[in-house]
Amino acid sequence: MLKECIVTEKLTKCYGNVKAVQDLDLTVYSGEIFGFLGPNGAGKTTTIRIMTTLTKPTSGRVRINGLDVVKDTEKVKKMFGVVQQHLSLDRDLTVRENMEFHARLHHLSSSERKRRINELLDYVELTEHADKMVDTLSGGMKKRAAIVSSLVHEPEVLFLDEPTVGLDAQARRRLWDLVRRLNSDGTTIFLTTHYIEEAEALCGRVGIIHQGRLIALDNPLELRRKLGLITVETLVDNKETHYKFFADRAAATKYVQNLPPDVKTIIIRDSNLEDVFVELTGQKVGDV
Ligand SMILES: Nc1ncnc2c1ncn2[C@@H]1O[C@H](COP(=O)(O)OP(=O)(O)O)[C@@H](O)[C@H]1O
Ligand SMILES: [Mg+2]
Repeated sequence: MLKECIVTEKLTKCYGNVKAVQDLDLTVYSGEIFGFLGPNGAGKTTTIRIMTTLTKPTSGRVRINGLDVVKDTEKVKKMFGVVQQHLSLDRDLTVRENMEFHARLHHLSSSERKRRINELLDYVELTEHADKMVDTLSGGMKKRAAIVSSLVHEPEVLFLDEPTVGLDAQARRRLWDLVRRLNSDGTTIFLTTHYIEEAEALCGRVGIIHQGRLIALDNPLELRRKLGLITVETLVDNKETHYKFFADRAAATKYVQNLPPDVKTIIIRDSNLEDVFVELTGQKVGDV
């Protein structure tokens, strides 16, 4: 049986005339890696900030494990860890000192702090870097340090806002592996991203957000299937590329065979979430 973990109802946040999030209805289940995918300015950070009690909604509500994040803030805070997009660690402290700080905020006893911090450092292979200043670490290590700092109180849910922005390909893959491992060890993950591949590689279900509104919600395969699993790109006279979507390769091939001879460039490929996004919005996820 699926257990509801994060539930939003008609969640709305306005900044003056800007509707950062509009009427968001969303349920994330325990045990998921849920991805919130959308371009810059779509409302991803605002949503995470409301869910993690850093900002109040204008209207609507969020519950985590049945508790309202506005009314039951203190109880809810025990249930989750959050890693903001921009480093939430103190750069002039060591990794261990940062973790100590978080553990004290959560009122862990001295022996609990020690046990938990050592365990987590080991979990992300940062033990030998534990006493280095955060500022001296690589981007990937900083991110891992931020993640384990947010996990000292053993939360059930982990929020990650654009966890791999600025990381190189290798560090990104390593972070994906860490997210998968945390998830298979029982942590529910809510992450935001504007990287298509990240949503496809990591997430069991993806919500696509555009201008504050949820415009699609499903697992990546189902989102692609609704569009058509196969994409045909055609280009005439190097002008505009046209995209057409087909249920399978046979249908795509049939279409291609009947194209007029002036169509020079033809690409048949698997559809991806970028195609889904473009088709729904007329824009690319990478567009600002
Ligand atoms: N503190 C704020 N004050 C005013 N406008 C804001 C604030 N935070 C976000 N916004 C606006 O809300 C919209 C959504 O922003 P954000 O949630 O940061 O999007 P994303 O994280 O998807 O890039 C944008 O138009 C942004 O400019
Ligand atoms: Mg953001």
